[in-house]
Amino acid sequence: MRASGGNRGGVGEGILIRVAAEVGTPVYVYDAEKIRSQHAALGAALAGIPHRLHYSVKANANLSVLSMIRGLGGGADIVSGGELARALRAGFLGRDLVFSGVGKARWELEAALNAGVGLINLESQGEFEVVRGLARGRGAPVVVGLRVNPDVTTETHPYTRTGQAGMKFGVPLDQVVALARCVADEPSLVLASVGMHIGSQIADGAPYRLGAERLSGVVAELRAAGITTLTSVDVGGGLGISYGRGDGMDPAEFAAAVAPLAGATGLPLLMEPGRFLVGNAGYLLTRVLYQKRSGGREFLITDAGMNDLLRPSLYQAYHDIVVIDGAGGSTASVGPVDVVGPNCESGDFLALDRRLDGAGPGALLAVLGAGAYGFGMSFQYNSRPRSAEVLIDGGRYAVVREREGTDDLMRGETAIPAWREA
Ligand code: LLP
Repeated sequence: MRASGGNRGGVGEGILIRVAAEVGTPVYVYDAEKIRSQHAALGAALAGIPHRLHYSVKANANLSVLSMIRGLGGGADIVSGGELARALRAGFLGRDLVFSGVGKARWELEAALNAGVGLINLESQGEFEVVRGLARGRGAPVVVGLRVNPDVTTETHPYTRTGQAGMKFGVPLDQVVALARCVADEPSLVLASVGMHIGSQIADGAPYRLGAERLSGVVAELRAAGITTLTSVDVGGGLGISYGRGDGMDPAEFAAAVAPLAGATGLPLLMEPGRFLVGNAGYLLTRVLYQKRSGGREFLITDAGMNDLLRPSLYQAYHDIVVIDGAGGSTASVGPVDVVGPNCESGDFLALDRRLDGAGPGALLAVLGAGAYGFGMSFQYNSRPRSAEVLIDGGRYAVVREREGTDDLMRGETAIPAWREA
């Protein structure tokens, strides 16, 4: 497969053409082998550090993907009651789960307690109070951690930074000890961890190093305050990948940045990688519907748009696009084109100013790097059913989520309101 950057797919064109023909487009395709190799690469880089990987479900929550990753060992990181349900359905045990997130609702926390979730990372005093209320009266103490905001800036899109002061995420450094004391003084809770998650699509080790130093400081402060119950430190996820332009994170660099934290604290590290494991294992296959010129620009209009893959529209994210099957004939594009979707929004595009020579109406394109935050962020705007998902493993493929139909768009809706007197 030809790609203009370093982001080369490992899946053969033949199977992609076959999947597109048999399952239709748009369709997300995931390469099991690539997920396994990314998992192995990360594991190898971290071999010298006591650690446990918790796959961040939000990156790709398909049940077959979750189940496959569960089979590789480790746990999962969840951020909602829905992700909890998926993780359990995929076979994770409650104790293998870390529950993160800034706004966990009462029902979600209750479901987590009922499932025996291994670690609930608290992000505020208010959340502590809700969890304390739920924990009292239960047989065993509830195991919690504190997500710290270490005030670290990362070189990533502003929407995917989370570790700076003044953001909604984490407990500010100057409030950590006080909140930790509240937890430690509560018999129904055990403070087992402190952690951070500083952002996503991070390509260098420096912010991890700084965050890790700050967490080391926090652990020392808590110990000085008499808190001796810590059993892990959570360094979050965020390891970047190459989207064909620019580099991803070298896992060895990540390991070198966080290793001193394990050394200084004597505690194993929890990690919550998402994108690194699945991002470059995924392709969004889409067909060119039409080709047109307007105001000196040339457009390829595809059957996938921002509702299928939001990242280009939301973050101006770059994804390599490869022509799998040109079908261009005499009208094939030769110059820079904008690859745009069918949604009634001018911000609906997959790529701008790209050379996709040979592609014309009917061409099959693969958008690369679509395995993370692709399907999971897709939606039904313009009442467009969500696409199918397919898992490829060697020479085989399986539809692991059926394409939605128009009935799915209206599930639970009614044209005749059942009025209730208020
Ligand atoms: N842990 C926590 C607490 C998180 O919030 C996240 C991602 C992760 C782990 C996993 O991060 P990863 O290793 O995948 O970078 N929609 C954006 C990314 C948002 C990430 C949100 N949190 C995108 O498409 O780039």
